[in-house]
Amino acid sequence: MRVAPSILSADFGKLESEVKAICEAGCDFVHIDVMDGHFVPNLTIGPCVVESVVKAATKPLDIHLMVQNNPFFVDLFAPFQPEFISFHIEEEKHANRLAQKIRSLGIKPAIVLNPHTGLDSIEYLLEYIDMVLIMSVNPGFGGQKFIPNILDKIKALKDKIALLNPSCLVEVDGGVSDSNIESLKEAGVDIVVAGSYVFSGDYRQRIESLK
Ligand code: DX5
Ligand code: ZN
Repeated sequence: MRVAPSILSADFGKLESEVKAICEAGCDFVHIDVMDGHFVPNLTIGPCVVESVVKAATKPLDIHLMVQNNPFFVDLFAPFQPEFISFHIEEEKHANRLAQKIRSLGIKPAIVLNPHTGLDSIEYLLEYIDMVLIMSVNPGFGGQKFIPNILDKIKALKDKIALLNPSCLVEVDGGVSDSNIESLKEAGVDIVVAGSYVFSGDYRQRIESLK
C-alpha cells in the first residue's frame, strides 16, 4: 500500500518542516487538498503555499482539486509538475478533454468521485486516466468518519478497471486509519490518503501502520 498524507492536517505554522518530516517518515506522495470555497465549503491551499511544499518535499505531489473551473486550477498547479492532478467528475462537463490536457502536460490525470457518485459517469473515461480517487468522506474537511459502503464501490470499480484499463490505480481519501486499512487492502486499493490519522501520532509509526 502506498501512503499519501494530506497536509491539510499539518501545522501550517511550520509547513516546510512538516512536509520534510512526512517524507523522511516514509510517505510515498504528499497529498495537497485545493479547496475554493465554492465546490466545497472550505478554502485552503493556493500556489504560494505549494511553493513552500515543493521546497521541502522529497516525494512526488498528489494534487486533489475540489474547485469550480478545473482548467484554471490545472494551469495554476501544473508548473509544479505533480505526479497526479485529480479533479471531481461532478464539476467537469469536459472531463475527457481535461484529462488529455493534464496528460499532455506530463502529469497523470485522475478522476475523483464523491461518495454518492456512481461508476457509470467514468465508464468511458477509464481508458484516458491513470487513477480513480474514491472519496470515503464528503469532501471539504479533514477528520471525518469513513463511509463504509465505499468498500462495495471499490470492488465494483476494480471489476471495471480489470476490463477497461488494468493499469489504472485506485486511491481512497477520507477517514482512513489503522481501523479500516485491512479492508482497503483486501479491496485492492493502491494508494490511501490519510490526514488526521498520520498527523495525530508518530508520523513514521502511523505511515508504517498503513503500508
Ligand atoms: C477531504 C480531503 C482529504 C482529507 C483527509 O476533503 O480531500 O484529503 O484532508 O483527511 P482525513 O484523513 O482526516 O479524513
Ligand atoms: Zn484529498
